[in-house]
Amino acid sequence: CIRDRDMRGVLMKELTYFNGEFVEPGAKCVSLDDRGYCFGDGVYEVTRVFDGRCFAFSYHQDRLYRSMRFMDIPVKMRPEDLQELHEIMIEQSGITDGYIYLQITRGVEPRHHAYDRSKLEPTMYMYIRPIKEDLSKLGEGVKAISLPDERWLNVDIKTLNLIPNILAQTKAEKKFAYSAVLFRDDICTEGATSNVFAVKDGICYTHPANNLILKGITRQLVVTRVAPTAGVSVIEKEFDREFVENADELFFTDTIGGIIPITTYDRKPVGNGEVGPVAAKLRAGYEKLLAEGLA
Ligand code: PDD
Repeated sequence: CIRDRDMRGVLMKELTYFNGEFVEPGAKCVSLDDRGYCFGDGVYEVTRVFDGRCFAFSYHQDRLYRSMRFMDIPVKMRPEDLQELHEIMIEQSGITDGYIYLQITRGVEPRHHAYDRSKLEPTMYMYIRPIKEDLSKLGEGVKAISLPDERWLNVDIKTLNLIPNILAQTKAEKKFAYSAVLFRDDICTEGATSNVFAVKDGICYTHPANNLILKGITRQLVVTRVAPTAGVSVIEKEFDREFVENADELFFTDTIGGIIPITTYDRKPVGNGEVGPVAAKLRAGYEKLLAEGLA
C-alpha cells in the first residue's frame, strides 16, 4: 500500500478492493478475458470523499444501479453493503479528502461479442485515493475549447467505453485547455468529463438530462439545491454554438472539481475574462453543501 500523510500529517494509504478482498495497488488479479478489459463492457462511478464522508452517496448508488439495469449486469451487492464497503474504505485508508472509484464489469469468458448472463459473474474493482492537487485553483477559472461530440446515443449510462471522451480530453489538454465543450451538430451537450452551463442575463442554461448527456450528480445538485438556495434560475434547455460564444459566463460541473468557471473559450475571453458573479456564487454554495455533507 502507498502510505502518505495528509495536510494535517495524518497517515493515510490508498486502498484497492478486488472481488471481495483488499489487494495491493497494481495487483495482477484481472483475467485477460475479462469483458471489461476486452470490450469496456462495464460501468463505473466516481464518488467524492470529503471530511471523511462520501458526498451524495445515494445519488451515485442510484445512478450505478440504473447503469447496471440498462447494461443487463446483475446486481450482486445490496445497497447497504455497497455503502458499508465505501465507509470501510474511508475508515481503513484514513483518507478524508479524496475519491472512490468503483467499476463493475460483466465478468470473464473467452472473447465473444454476445454474452450469456447466466454464465457470468461480474468483476468488481474499487479504490480510494486522496486528492493531491489544489482544487481551489479551479475556482480561478480555466480554459476550454469546443469539439464535436462523437459519442453514441446512450451517454446517460456511465459505461467504461469512453473513447470519444478520452480523445476529446487529450485534444483539449494538448491545446493547454482544462477540457472540451462538446457539440452534437450545433447543440452544446456537455464537457468531455463534465456537464456544461452557460449564463445569460443572470439565468443559467444547461442541456436537458436526456440520453445525450450524462446526468451528472453535481449538475443535478446545482439545479435542485445550490441554484435555488442562491436565488439563481436554471433552465434545462438546448442551446447552440452561438449562444455559448455569446454567453456572459460558462462553467463545467463534476464530482471532483465541483463548479469550474470557464474564463477562456476557444482562445477568447468569456465575458470580461474574469470569473463571473453567478459561477462564483454557485461555487461558494456548492462548497457549503459539500462541507455540510449529503447522504
Ligand atoms: N466524470 N459528463 C461526463 C461525460 C462525465 O464524465 C462526468 C464525470 C460528468 C459529471 O458527472 P458528476 O457530476 O456525477 O461527476 C458529466 C467523472 C468524474 C469521471 O469520469 O472521472
